[in-house]
Amino acid sequence: MKGIALKEFGGVDHCALTDIPDKRVSTGEVLVKVRAAGISFVDLLVIEGKYQVKPPLPFCPGKEAAGIVVELGGGVKDLAVGDRVMVLVEQGAFAQYVLAKRHQCFVLPDTMDFTIGATFGLSYQTAHFAIRDRARAKSDDTIFVTGAGSGVGLATVELSKAFGNRVLAGVSSNSKGERAKAAGADEIVDLSSALDRDSVRDQVRRYTGGAGANVVIDVVGGDVFDSAIRCVAWRGRIVVVGFAAGRIPTIKANYLLLKNIEATGLDWSDYPVNAPNLVMEAQDEIFSLFKRNKIGSHVDRIMPFTNFSEAVRLIQDRKVNGRIALSWL
Ligand SMILES: NC(=O)c1ccc[n+]([C@@H]2O[C@H](COP(=O)([O-])OP(=O)(O)OC[C@H]3O[C@@H](n4cnc5c(N)ncnc54)[C@H](OP(=O)(O)O)[C@@H]3O)[C@@H](O)[C@H]2O)c1
Repeated sequence: MKGIALKEFGGVDHCALTDIPDKRVSTGEVLVKVRAAGISFVDLLVIEGKYQVKPPLPFCPGKEAAGIVVELGGGVKDLAVGDRVMVLVEQGAFAQYVLAKRHQCFVLPDTMDFTIGATFGLSYQTAHFAIRDRARAKSDDTIFVTGAGSGVGLATVELSKAFGNRVLAGVSSNSKGERAKAAGADEIVDLSSALDRDSVRDQVRRYTGGAGANVVIDVVGGDVFDSAIRCVAWRGRIVVVGFAAGRIPTIKANYLLLKNIEATGLDWSDYPVNAPNLVMEAQDEIFSLFKRNKIGSHVDRIMPFTNFSEAVRLIQDRKVNGRIALSWL
């Protein structure tokens, strides 16, 4: 079958759309014919060799896809050949067929097309666990999300609104601010001046009557995190979700004490391993919100797999507003 092979860590120049080995199902596994796959910042980390999991080379990357079940391994009773599913895997989604364990497959709602399904799982589940499990947000909390133009950021905006929260969206440009507003953000915080920490804190204070945000969800790290932690309200929580800016920030413990705040982290990839039931429950709720039009999609554009390198470069150049879906034409 055709797929993307990563031959060396370092960059997209080491990736090629080529023939890769076919997959065979084992007990408890599901083979899915991929119709579309989602590509995002985390795939850049994988390709560059900066992601925490480094499979032996060469391998086919890709963490999310949507398609049709074509074969079931022994013991898989509650899926059928022909089912439309979304899959979330550690690797292998950038191919014509992907192998997934049963708990990595989620049956798509009838109204969700493959490009939405392929770009939906990772970002909304990450957002869900950040808001609900890590931040323990209640509906009257004000949530400030940084990097609100990213897939995870937009999903956090949408889910927070669906849960009844007031949402401040931190973005780096006007166009990303407009997209975040369209996703439901109540106010836009300009992060382009994050080096000036007072600027971000002052904006958040202005929008919260001086109190700050009860919950801050940060996907950017670096200077943005250093500014964002100053925006947390008394007894508030900040959730570390990512370091897209490159620098892993440091938290001074006295800051937590003086403001009575909590800092916590989220690594979504641990949840399917340690708590698959929580993942299924979260996904049911997310799909239910989609079916009731409480949340939508954040597909920015659909590109053929032959344009894989271009998709990677668009993400590197921060030109994507939401997610890219790669499609087999
Ligand atoms: N903890 C978890 O389980 C988990 C799961 C998924 C993703 N993540 C993390 O969440 C973040 C967003 O992921 P995604 O999949 O939503 O990504 P995405 O849609 O591809 O968007 C990338 C984001 O990174 C920002 N960015 C890139 N380079 C940057 C830089 N040099 N300085 C500041 N911001 C920069 C972009 O900011 P602009 O919009 O301003 O251009 C954009 O918000 C990443 O850090 C990713 O590693 C974490």
